[in-house]
Amino acid sequence: MDLFDEIDESQSLKLAEGSTLLRGFALCEQATMLKDLHAVVTLAPFRHMVTPGGFTMSVAMTNCGDLGWVTDKKGYRYDALDPLTGKPWPAMPASFMALARAAAKLAGYSEFTPDACLINRYQVGARMSLHQDKNERDFNQPIVSVSLGVSAVFQLGGFERADKAVKLPLYHGDVVVWGGDSRLRYHGVLPLKVSHHPAFGEYRINLTFRKAG
Ligand code: SIN
Ligand code: FE2
Repeated sequence: MDLFDEIDESQSLKLAEGSTLLRGFALCEQATMLKDLHAVVTLAPFRHMVTPGGFTMSVAMTNCGDLGWVTDKKGYRYDALDPLTGKPWPAMPASFMALARAAAKLAGYSEFTPDACLINRYQVGARMSLHQDKNERDFNQPIVSVSLGVSAVFQLGGFERADKAVKLPLYHGDVVVWGGDSRLRYHGVLPLKVSHHPAFGEYRINLTFRKAG
């Protein structure tokens, strides 16, 4: 019996063709995930990366898994090594992998095996402007995005940056999956408001699982 099987499917909300919101889906494994997250960020600390245009990102990032998403003046890409330590990224914890696979399956993507988990840390005022995830090799693979800690407003847009975006509050434990016809939708996060979460303090943590390589 899998813990994730106990999730009530009525908590699942279709946002658009190919995208699903799973309210509270990550709650059942939060204690293990918090412990595993601490282990990952001890080996690969959060850092503010620089965009190719020379801007320092307001969101602090790290990765786990075979590949990690990085940006610097040379561009956006996936790399097997953490540029900060020169070592491979920490292995993806089993709890992360299980959650990502279970969420993808519930959203209709039964074959998802991520090789990359980007970990985003938002502090007050941190934001992510509308963008498409397109550094991955295979757009048939979905994106699984897990929200932990302080809540934030997520924007799910269309296929052009200027398209109107739906604003969606995401709370601790929520998971959004986008793939299929939604895979290249623009998305972003509005500036984080001042708030407090008992386990995460002033921060919002987002885990974004991808099959990158
Ligand atoms: C991302 O697009 O990488 C992050 C999305 C989020 O923080 O919810
Ligand atoms: Fe993204």
